[in-house]
Amino acid sequence: MCGIVGYVGNRAAVPILLQGLKTLEYRGYDSAGLAVIEDEVVKIIRSQGKIAVLEDLVGERLSEATCGIGHTRWATHGRPSDLNSHPHTDCRGEIAMVHNGIIENYLELKEFLSDKGHEFTSETDTEVLPHLVEHYYQDNLLAAVSRAIKDLRGSYATVAVCNKEPNKLVAARKDTPLIIGIGDDEYFFASDITALLEHTRKIIVMDDGEVACLTPEGYQIYRDMQPIKKEITTVTWDAESAKKGGYKHFMLKEIHEQPWALQQTLKGRIADDRSGVRLPEFSLDKIQLQRIEKVTIVACGTSYHAGLIGKYAMEKILRLPVEVDIASEFRYRDPLIDKKTLMLVISQSGETADTLAALREAKRRGAHVVAITNVLGSTISREAHDVIYTWAGPEIAVASTKAYTTQLAALYLLTMYLAEKLGRMKANELQALIEDFYRIPEKIDEIFASCEEQIKNIAEKNLKSDDAFFVGRSMDYAVALEGSLKLKEISYIHAEAYAAGELKHGTLALIVEGVPVLALCTQRALIEKTISNIKEIKARDAHIIGLCYEGMKEVPQVVDDTIFLPDTNDLFAPILAVTPLQLLAYYAACARGCDVDQPRNLAKSVTVE
Ligand code: AGP
Repeated sequence: MCGIVGYVGNRAAVPILLQGLKTLEYRGYDSAGLAVIEDEVVKIIRSQGKIAVLEDLVGERLSEATCGIGHTRWATHGRPSDLNSHPHTDCRGEIAMVHNGIIENYLELKEFLSDKGHEFTSETDTEVLPHLVEHYYQDNLLAAVSRAIKDLRGSYATVAVCNKEPNKLVAARKDTPLIIGIGDDEYFFASDITALLEHTRKIIVMDDGEVACLTPEGYQIYRDMQPIKKEITTVTWDAESAKKGGYKHFMLKEIHEQPWALQQTLKGRIADDRSGVRLPEFSLDKIQLQRIEKVTIVACGTSYHAGLIGKYAMEKILRLPVEVDIASEFRYRDPLIDKKTLMLVISQSGETADTLAALREAKRRGAHVVAITNVLGSTISREAHDVIYTWAGPEIAVASTKAYTTQLAALYLLTMYLAEKLGRMKANELQALIEDFYRIPEKIDEIFASCEEQIKNIAEKNLKSDDAFFVGRSMDYAVALEGSLKLKEISYIHAEAYAAGELKHGTLALIVEGVPVLALCTQRALIEKTISNIKEIKARDAHIIGLCYEGMKEVPQVVDDTIFLPDTNDLFAPILAVTPLQLLAYYAACARGCDVDQPRNLAKSVTVE
């Protein structure tokens, strides 16, 4: 997704803008640019390519400027090119703007403005913004931006500068995140918190419909041109936690952070004697809970895969029907959602457009919506009725890892909490389950110690073909889906996941000699069936890598390599089983020289539909 930074204060703006854009690189982008005001002139430098290209173009120039905006673009309308890069300007080059989101009515606005003599040079939707502000500009940038946004349909986080008001930034936000950083006589805009941590931890999260004006003297936020007061939040993350911490890639760091992230997510939510789960953020009382007739879980990508695990756990323990839907499909199927539905939306970023739209549709239909998200103050967290945060810290790598396992933890916590509230488990059974769950983080550390070197060797030796298959039954199938997504999205190997019992209905035709097949075998009740499926695959000479618990004898006898997991309750096996799959994907991608943290075509937060 696009990244935005803005600065106004007494320091040189260019180094701050470039550094801020670098911290946003993880969002995925194809071009970058900046605009500063120097000697009351708007000066713009922008180009297709990485930020290093922009840095070379800037060189030592623009060093006097103390006010400016920067942007990394992830192309939506118009291919990556210098002309389509942001910032864009008005006719006279006196107003420059950057934008994240999609202006859905940009073509009609372009026609309206062209009829008034405005000329456009790019293919982007964004370029209508500075021309529209120019159309309304009467020596008041704040008023012009406030008026212009009334004509927009779609989503936007946009920041404007103008040479006639040289020490001022004006921003507006709708459906796309924008954050204000409060420094000492200096103020910032950024798409997300990580771009601000070098300078301040005091932030204000803008809401839809708000316009903000920053100058070296201070900030003011408006709604319909009326000043409003907003709470300042202090971010607990520090700049270091948003860095690589000695790892080669963010992804490897975040895989290894999972024990810590899980402990952070469990902290304060399990009774000291393990007798129960505490979730004060869940607002339904027992009477309201008893009216719930089904649970619907909606998410995208890895978060959707987490939802599938939630389904298995909740149906098994709560005996409630649970539907899991891909967010981009959910609201177009006229979903059967009403006030008897408990809706869970899962989103690491809390900004995924499809998931946000599903949340709004569910609320409109009367459901009680609970968000499971990792970003404090994200749009989804602020629009849901309840929020269960996964305290995993910033997840920078595009491939989601610690967010997934902490989402599972949140789903397990919610399931055990509801089990107690709905009387679905005896006290001793619940306590035993919580005891098992509480030991999961340390078991992940055991996996790193016992298997990581073996996993690296398997990845380098056996994941060289252009195809790979992941198979499993029940929860193992849901984990297989996540494992295949990890592998395909960072190594570009065409990986597919199948229910183990489904292969013989077609996909077995693709199983040829040497093709790697990951067979997950953690669900003990189904192990015999899974082994039968493995034998079907082995009969076609595939190279099979089995995942099972230490001490299991039957799996190593039928596979080529076995990755052993510490023994645990089958219900919690997904958190352990996914860790080797994350590592396999990581080492396979490294072996293939791929851009692990920023894979091609992908973005960390997809804030467009
Ligand atoms: C996962 O590795 C991907 N980065 C992607 O599928 C991601 O999970 C999806 O875009 C949903 O993002 P969210 O959790 O921020 O909503």
